[in-house]
Amino acid sequence: MRSIFITLGAFIPHFLLSEAKANCPLYGPLLPRPTNLLQDPAIKGVAAILDDVFLKYIDNDTSTGSERFSYAVEVFTGSEDKPLWSRYWTAPTLKEFNSSGVTKVDTNTVFRIGSVTKIFTVLTFLATVGDGVWNDPITKYLPEIEEIASKASDSPIFTPDWESITVGSLASQMSGLIRDYALLGELSYQLNLTDLNRMGFPPLPNGSFPPCGTFPTCDREQLYAGLGKLPPSFPPFTTPVYSDIGFVLLSYVAERITGKDFNSLVTDAVLTPLNLSRTFVETPDDSFGIIPGTRRSTTWGYSLDQESATGNMYTSTGDLSSLGRAILRSTLLKPAMTRRWLKPTSFSSDPMAAVGMPWGIRRINLGKNQTYQFVHTFNKIGSLGSYSCLFALIPELDIGFAVLAAGVLPAGIANAIAESLSDTYIPTLSYVARAQANATFAGDYGNPTLLYNTTTTDNNNTTPLNSSLTITIDPTAPGLGVTNWFSNGTDMALLAVALTANISAEYFPQLKPSVRLYPTGLEEKVLSNGGKRVAFKAVFEDLSPPDSSSGSGGSFVTDCATWVGVTAVVYGSRPLDLFVFEFGPDGRVVAVVNEGLRVRLEKKKKPVMPVV
Ligand SMILES: *[C@@H]1O[C@H](CO)[C@@H](O)[C@H](O)[C@H]1NC(C)=O
Ligand SMILES: *[C@@H]1O[C@H](CO)[C@@H](O)[C@H](O)[C@H]1NC(C)=O
Ligand SMILES: *[C@@H]1O[C@H](CO)[C@@H](O)[C@H](O)[C@H]1NC(C)=O
Ligand SMILES: *[C@@H]1O[C@H](CO)[C@@H](O)[C@H](O)[C@H]1NC(C)=O
Ligand SMILES: *[C@@H]1O[C@H](CO)[C@@H](O)[C@H](O)[C@H]1NC(C)=O
Ligand SMILES: *[C@@H]1O[C@H](CO)[C@@H](O)[C@H](O)[C@H]1NC(C)=O
Ligand SMILES: *[C@@H]1O[C@H](CO)[C@@H](O)[C@H](O)[C@H]1NC(C)=O
Ligand SMILES: *[C@@H]1O[C@H](CO)[C@@H](O)[C@H](O)[C@H]1NC(C)=O
Ligand SMILES: *[C@@H]1O[C@H](CO)[C@@H](O)[C@H](O)[C@H]1NC(C)=O
Ligand SMILES: *[C@@H]1O[C@H](CO)[C@@H](O)[C@H](O)[C@H]1NC(C)=O
Ligand SMILES: *[C@@H]1O[C@H](CO)[C@@H](O)[C@H](O)[C@H]1NC(C)=O
Ligand SMILES: *[C@@H]1O[C@H](CO)[C@@H](O)[C@H](O)[C@H]1NC(C)=O
Repeated sequence: MRSIFITLGAFIPHFLLSEAKANCPLYGPLLPRPTNLLQDPAIKGVAAILDDVFLKYIDNDTSTGSERFSYAVEVFTGSEDKPLWSRYWTAPTLKEFNSSGVTKVDTNTVFRIGSVTKIFTVLTFLATVGDGVWNDPITKYLPEIEEIASKASDSPIFTPDWESITVGSLASQMSGLIRDYALLGELSYQLNLTDLNRMGFPPLPNGSFPPCGTFPTCDREQLYAGLGKLPPSFPPFTTPVYSDIGFVLLSYVAERITGKDFNSLVTDAVLTPLNLSRTFVETPDDSFGIIPGTRRSTTWGYSLDQESATGNMYTSTGDLSSLGRAILRSTLLKPAMTRRWLKPTSFSSDPMAAVGMPWGIRRINLGKNQTYQFVHTFNKIGSLGSYSCLFALIPELDIGFAVLAAGVLPAGIANAIAESLSDTYIPTLSYVARAQANATFAGDYGNPTLLYNTTTTDNNNTTPLNSSLTITIDPTAPGLGVTNWFSNGTDMALLAVALTANISAEYFPQLKPSVRLYPTGLEEKVLSNGGKRVAFKAVFEDLSPPDSSSGSGGSFVTDCATWVGVTAVVYGSRPLDLFVFEFGPDGRVVAVVNEGLRVRLEKKKKPVMPVV
């Protein structure tokens, strides 16, 4: 296998130009998630910079129109109850409206959140029904749809394939259903028929127009009747297609399964347990909200009624941060369900973007010389009338953003704010994670003891084992580096790489072995001493082949598929790539065990620098 690559490599022109290939980490956090962030000087530093930047380039800069919009922004982390950074701006012109809402924006100010409601809808579903029904057809729960399906024409172009539309497809925008029934987009609600006729739209028989939609809103019967008339956009599971109706039907499924209405479901499953006292399905008291105009002109008082699950909700930045922390901490769901939820369902045409439930997902590269190192943002944006909202989670770094804005909003204001937050926090948190990992893990490990009992080997006092390793944190490489890894005098890094890739000894001199460790999320308390054991997975890579990551890559040849090679080497049922760090009760690393080698190596205390 290897020899084929070497031979072919010579014919690839960029072979000669390219550098050694980049490390290919496993997907997931590259280092343990950073903690104690409120105390961290780097985090305090960026908070001060952001204060300055927002003041100068938004609040004080009249060219942004900031006298006419207000915003509330919080950066939160799963490891702290308080935000890492927050900023609240009240439009100087807000008072001119004499509205019954707040006069000053703060963490408790309630905004409309439009489609960010969909996050609450999916979380409510997961917390009450779970994701076990994702592959059930919706007809199983919605007899109204079954009825529609039975009466529908058998034209695949004009009738959705209802039996193949699953509950999960509604949450992931994969149902192929059209976006809305008359809620948005129906021209007869926006323009009068005379004008439409002049614009080239032919006159239609009266019955062609929906009797309800934006206003008046449809009752459930009208909505179902309307659904019976709508053609699909695509067959289910073809391509993600944004559909509000999908979330309406998702709420109907939850109502049918639980026997509760959507408002009670959200309240009982999410709002009450998380104490989100400033979050509402229906319009709350005006005094909680920012209303930059009238209740009508801002849409503050408008209700989507039967379609609430797709966009009716209201919340504050404080509550949105609490929601984000609860997702990152898996407060309401089992951790495995949260991990399933924070994954993509489909590609999109943008190679850096994917679609989840109901997430828009973006891959963000961590920087130069960090080819395969990414974090992922799980986002949802929403807007309605005078309001705009963005909610984002970055699971690898355990942070998220809550952005709410109201007033006369510059296009894309919530995205622009989130962009400046990610530009700031992603590099800073990556830096802090590195610095913390450096302080925690980096160093020399030695003084070996074998962790097995044997009847055949006297392991009392033969020659002492010559085993040791060094953990390093490097400025651009991912994970924890393992260097100088010797097992009883053998260069284990070379051997581990060679065994993993089945490379024969004659090629050893050409190898550039790399051993790097990644967090697995597997850890246990050691009750006897109040410490803990934390498992890492090693990736054994040969970095000597040329870098093929630039350009578009091949159809089959890839530089980065290390997930396939995990635990390719096992010795006596214990993986050679399983490294378990032992922490003392004080949170310091005491030792590391390589389970395949059954050897425990103590962390050497750092030499105390002599005072000169
Ligand atoms: C912002 O504007 C206020 C009022 O015009 C002014 O007092 C303050 O110096 C300005 N600050 C900055 C950083 O420009
Ligand atoms: C708000 O109140 C002031 C003073 O009573 C009045 O001059 C102004 O027209 C009012 N504005 C609106 C939008 O009602
Ligand atoms: C439609 O709107 C036009 C103005 O754009 C107005 O002149 C006309 O009277 C309206 N027609 C109806 C039936 O409301
Ligand atoms: C269609 O609707 C218009 C306006 O509502 C009404 O004047 C007209 O009589 C209706 N035509 C029919 C055929 O129902
Ligand atoms: C719930 O939130 C309110 C304010 O938002 C706060 O006063 C109260 O202490 C919280 N209750 C709990 C149990 O956290
Ligand atoms: C990336 O690597 C190249 C070559 O090793 C080096 O010259 C450059 O400074 C590195 N860039 C960064 C941002 O680390
Ligand atoms: C080895 O044997 C001793 C005594 O039987 C026991 O206490 C210890 O847990 C064993 N260690 C391992 C790693 O099995
Ligand atoms: C190892 O040493 C202990 C005492 O230090 C002794 O009891 C034990 O029998 C020895 N084991 C072997 C296999 O010789
Ligand atoms: C790790 O810490 C050591 C000092 O203990 C420092 O010299 C080194 O630059 C640090 N490395 C990184 C990547 O932070
Ligand atoms: C260490 O290596 C020596 C020399 O090859 C060998 O005799 C001994 O059994 C080894 N010890 C272990 C625990 O593998
Ligand atoms: C331990 O092994 C390393 C690598 O084989 C070797 O360089 C070193 O001299 C050995 N040390 C002892 C004390 O045998
Ligand atoms: C490793 O490669 C050798 C030939 O170099 C082959 O005989 C052997 O089957 C391979 N082992 C595995 C596990 O692929």
